[in-house]
Amino acid sequence: MSNNNRHSDYTHPVVLAENLRKDLQMGQVTVHALRDATLTIQAGELVSIIGPSGSGKSTLLGLLGGLDTPTGGRVVIDDMDITQLSERALTRVRNEKIGFVFQFFNLVPTLTALENVALPIQFARQRQFNPTKRARELLAMLELEERLNHRPNQLSGGEQQRVAIARALANNPPLLLCDEPTGNLDSVSGGLVMHALREVQRSMRTTIIIVTHDMSIAAQTERVISLVDGCIQGDMDPRALDVVTGTLPTAIDALAEVRA
Ligand SMILES: Nc1ncnc2c1ncn2[C@@H]1O[C@H](COP(=O)(O)OP(=O)(O)OP(=O)(O)O)[C@@H](O)[C@H]1O
Ligand SMILES: [Mg+2]
Repeated sequence: MSNNNRHSDYTHPVVLAENLRKDLQMGQVTVHALRDATLTIQAGELVSIIGPSGSGKSTLLGLLGGLDTPTGGRVVIDDMDITQLSERALTRVRNEKIGFVFQFFNLVPTLTALENVALPIQFARQRQFNPTKRARELLAMLELEERLNHRPNQLSGGEQQRVAIARALANNPPLLLCDEPTGNLDSVSGGLVMHALREVQRSMRTTIIIVTHDMSIAAQTERVISLVDGCIQGDMDPRALDVVTGTLPTAIDALAEVRA
């Protein structure tokens, strides 16, 4: 990868969330999916968001990525307040600044790996790359150079997810948001996907946020943000936690108990 492909270092906030809140109305009941979340993520960080089912992880990620609008608070992506934008301007920020990876890979079934990755480059408003050349480079970085002409049903789950990561990176966004990227994979394939994400962070300096409920995935990131009941409970270095408490889950449980 060439140098102009790299994003900046740890001294520039790529994501800033202030008092972010999401209330959802279910008949008479208001669900507080996210309560006053404030956080800053610097360029180049590899962060995980963990927490029990229903704790607000996907809600938070969706708000950070402009897929959803908050009830209160604001989100700033790469110096731009996205909570103030029109739907059209927001779509543009999403396309140019953010790559998304989900649990189910959502590749186009009739296209090859190469074509799936080239597609967003062909559709970019301002084309930065030669679509085929760029798609080849990304797939090679993700160790899929032998799979360029395979269609999704000719690839393993882990391979499909790596194609989805390459596609999300096609237009070189500074930020990659992943919701349970290993959730549908066995531990070996999940390990390869994590290896791929760490390689992306290292070589492209892409800021990566991974939502997971798998502690072994969180332990491979540099910073672990934990959510409980819609609130940010902890913001930790996984190594420090290992030393203090032995295991990450124990620490999270302890934090939850303190709060209760
Ligand atoms: N469209 C919706 N309408 C009403 N409530 C919702 C809606 N979407 C999410 N919620 C509620 O908001 C809370 C947070 O949901 P969210 O999907 O963010 O959790 P999560 O941490 O991602 O869980 P999981 O690990 O199961 O994916 C949950 O209590 C959920 O039931
Ligand atoms: Mg979720």
